[in-house]
Amino acid sequence: MEKKWWHRKIVYQIYPKSFKDSNSDGIGDIRGIIEKLDYLQDLGIDLLWLSPIYRSPLADQGYDISDYYNIDPRFGSLEDLQELIEEGKKRNIGIVMDLVVNHCSDEHEWFKKACEDPEGPYGKFFYIEDHKKGEKLPCNWRSYFGGSCWDYLPGHDDKIYLHVFHKKQPDLNWENPLLRKEIYKMINWWLDKGIAGFRIDAIINIKKKLPFQDYPADRCDGLSSIENMLKEATGIGEFLNEMADECFRKHDSFTVGEVFNEKDSELPLFIGENGYFSTMFDFSTTFIDETPVSTVEPLKDLAEKYKKAAFASHKRVEGIGLLSNIIENHDEPRGVSRYIKPEDLCDNSKKMLAGIYFMMPGIPFIYQGQEIGMENLPEVKSMEELDDCANPHLYQRAIEDGLSEKDALKILSLKSRDNARTPFQWSEDKYTGFSDTEPWLKVNPKYKDINLEKQKDDAGSVFNFYKELIKLRKNPDYLDTMVYGEFSPYHEEQKNLLSFKRKADKTILVVANYQNEPQSLVLDRPVKSILMSNRKDICFDNGAISLQGYDFIIAELEN
Ligand code: NOJ
Repeated sequence: MEKKWWHRKIVYQIYPKSFKDSNSDGIGDIRGIIEKLDYLQDLGIDLLWLSPIYRSPLADQGYDISDYYNIDPRFGSLEDLQELIEEGKKRNIGIVMDLVVNHCSDEHEWFKKACEDPEGPYGKFFYIEDHKKGEKLPCNWRSYFGGSCWDYLPGHDDKIYLHVFHKKQPDLNWENPLLRKEIYKMINWWLDKGIAGFRIDAIINIKKKLPFQDYPADRCDGLSSIENMLKEATGIGEFLNEMADECFRKHDSFTVGEVFNEKDSELPLFIGENGYFSTMFDFSTTFIDETPVSTVEPLKDLAEKYKKAAFASHKRVEGIGLLSNIIENHDEPRGVSRYIKPEDLCDNSKKMLAGIYFMMPGIPFIYQGQEIGMENLPEVKSMEELDDCANPHLYQRAIEDGLSEKDALKILSLKSRDNARTPFQWSEDKYTGFSDTEPWLKVNPKYKDINLEKQKDDAGSVFNFYKELIKLRKNPDYLDTMVYGEFSPYHEEQKNLLSFKRKADKTILVVANYQNEPQSLVLDRPVKSILMSNRKDICFDNGAISLQGYDFIIAELEN
């Protein structure tokens, strides 16, 4: 694999609204991020991905952009952002912006002009169709947030427009070369400002299978998941290659695609040498608890399912490119609450999970608060406690699947995106040190126990375990092995044991006992040294390691 500058990087994701509020309005902002740059430098990260901070009505928390060239005043100004870029550079931290171009906001001037004159040039920036009340819609696709993906075009009772997300997020028509030109101009404008690159939102949706057609209904609402259409849509590569040529390749920028449903044959095109993107997220483990119907039952065989999914996706891209590894982000529940049984949730199991995903091949991403082991909200009692526009759909779906109202709320406790969006837990001060006024979203009441201040100087904390992991990965003696080392599962058949080797100039063994019960692992060659572990007195005996529950070890083996 040709070596690229971003292969060695560690990325940190900030959800700006919930990271640090500098001006006491209960909303996090850019100046709050600047305040915390020293903290991020000390943690050891290299790139900072900011979820959207562009001007937006925030119907989907900034993923609905009304002006691509401006910062929303709630987050600050362009000057603040320029300062963040400069201050980041001083600390060797690059800024990665969110690129949301499958759709814009219905308050974007393009859409407003399209509403004024649907037949005019801006009408062609969107998917607008004639439609009379009572007539059949052009297709039965279900929007990702529930309901039909068609709505009446504001001001017209005989025209409808397409939105695969919220109705305030009209889809942009990528078939139109004038639209694409506008998008590339905007991307280059940002890259010329000195940002390191982009995280690219929902990008797989830009290619629609046209003409519009119905797919078999997959729920009682008579609608069909958009995935059915995406499976049949071909030709996205032409758009992505054009965008890479016009923008990213010229700037040698880092790009990470939010890509789902890609076909195996397309992987080299997406993330191979000279691919459309530098990398794309590995979401494989986020699907292990997706059942066809909503359920609050704990997932059976969690550890085995996690292992199978994580190993398979890295085998799939081996020799092609690098994936970006996550355990959570702003769209997912907290990883520790999802991938560790509630009764086993403790510092050691959190460290084990951190160690596993960090040591897999790929680029590690840390989502804000993950480094201190932030957990899901405790049980949600009513919808009013929450904020996210996706919650009603999640709730409704659970009810349609036959769950009681109480269990449907439990689904929100387990799955709502708000779990990851509560304010960062800086300290045990009122409002967690995030703000000195009531935050826009409730604080997770667990903050008195889980906060940075408590963990900073505690050598055994989850936070310091993350710092150690980052330091180890950056150690020049091991860097090549960690970044490019061949991945081979070790004793894959051993139940609830997740172990693998990484081999380049050194051989590293990673061992995780993904259960509360002890077990032992036979070694096929001597251990040279233990590089890291979450328990100090790990015991080796006659070529075997005795593991306690949730033990995690990184060892160097004799070559
Ligand atoms: C994916 C983003 O991560 C999510 O937060 C957003 O709701 C959708 N794309 C739509 O932009």
